[in-house]
Amino acid sequence: MAKKINTVVKSNEKKLRVACIGAGGIAGAHLTEFAKMKDVEIVGLADPIMDSMVKKAEQFKIPLDNCFTDYRKMLATLKPDAVSVCSPNGAHEENTIAALQAGAHVLVEKPMAMNAKQSQKMIDIARKARRKLVIGFQFRYDGRSAFLREAVDNGTFGDILYGRVQALRRRGIPNWGVFGRKDLQGGGPMIDIGVHCLEMCHFVMGSPKPVAAFGNCFTYLGNKPSTTKSAWPNWDWKNYTVEDLAVGMIRFENGAMLNIEASFAAHIEKDVWNFGLMGTKAGGQWDPAMIFTDQNKHMVNMSPTYLPDNGWGGIWPPKMRNFVEHCLYDKPTLSPAEDGLMVQKMLDAIYESSSKGGKEVAIK
Ligand SMILES: NC(=O)c1ccc[n+]([C@@H]2O[C@H](COP(=O)([O-])OP(=O)(O)OC[C@H]3O[C@@H](n4cnc5c(N)ncnc54)[C@H](O)[C@@H]3O)[C@@H](O)[C@H]2O)c1
Repeated sequence: MAKKINTVVKSNEKKLRVACIGAGGIAGAHLTEFAKMKDVEIVGLADPIMDSMVKKAEQFKIPLDNCFTDYRKMLATLKPDAVSVCSPNGAHEENTIAALQAGAHVLVEKPMAMNAKQSQKMIDIARKARRKLVIGFQFRYDGRSAFLREAVDNGTFGDILYGRVQALRRRGIPNWGVFGRKDLQGGGPMIDIGVHCLEMCHFVMGSPKPVAAFGNCFTYLGNKPSTTKSAWPNWDWKNYTVEDLAVGMIRFENGAMLNIEASFAAHIEKDVWNFGLMGTKAGGQWDPAMIFTDQNKHMVNMSPTYLPDNGWGGIWPPKMRNFVEHCLYDKPTLSPAEDGLMVQKMLDAIYESSSKGGKEVAIK
């Protein structure tokens, strides 16, 4: 008789027990990636609105007993190893601090917080609690960002003199959530979408230290009922307290400058999501990824013939995998909290300058 083989393999693989605070749109992207990973167990959710959690709980097979309307109760009951903070910007600080103090590593969505003061406090508490704090900056995992950053690291650009950042929507005021509420979000397109293109350009530039900025913000469409047809009509114009368009100029310690434009609504031909660089030896752009330089007495354009991790579907897996490996195996993160703080300081300075009529403000 053949010997019976014991097919039950006892795994000694460490599992990261994760939970989400905030169970709305972007929590779905976090949970989708966590659910694919063998070394991750999704243990629970917290959201003040039960309905949001029920949908996610069904989708990701999370027992309803592990869904809490009080995030502190969720932390105390489930004691997750790691938490994704996917709540509106105004709750990032308190959710993150509570999770860190409950012993969890944290991946907090962009922007890191409402302002740099909150961001600094989150970093201080993470250090004190000896927990990891990562920012949800997925665009630095994009193949185009890596192509440019590797060229920067190899000296292809020489000294980078100027970054030009654009996150522009012609008519894209979110008609869900609280994106039009300055008190809950900290601002409009600059902090919500400008932050994406700003963080990837700043990362590709090698994360130079910002020292000053000036800018201005304008509201002229979002605070009125929609009079045009667009994909996202009927936003909450009565409670719209953020800017439609923000522009800013940032100066870095190394002398480089960065210009940023961000809009939810602007009279432009079409939406733009891009950044460009100008350096002493070469320039470049993110989309399509290209480097502009001189070779053999000719001006030449170089573009990669293959790029991995391109686009939304390509950047979420590495973003989430990096966080898990950072927590479980101490792999370095590409999006540390210190980068989140620098980005937040730039955003703060543009908003502060705008409140002072566009005067330059120092960044400390
Ligand atoms: N990385 C990205 O590409 C990306 C994309 C979209 C949104 N975001 C960020 O994710 C965050 C959430 O955005 P969203 O699009 O998922 O919004 P959403 O409105 O779809 O979901 C937010 C959820 O948080 C819950 N919530 C409200 N107050 C809360 C609190 N105090 N504590 C816990 N939960 C609370 C809401 O009930 C809701 O279910 C924002 O900070 C946003 O900037 C990031």
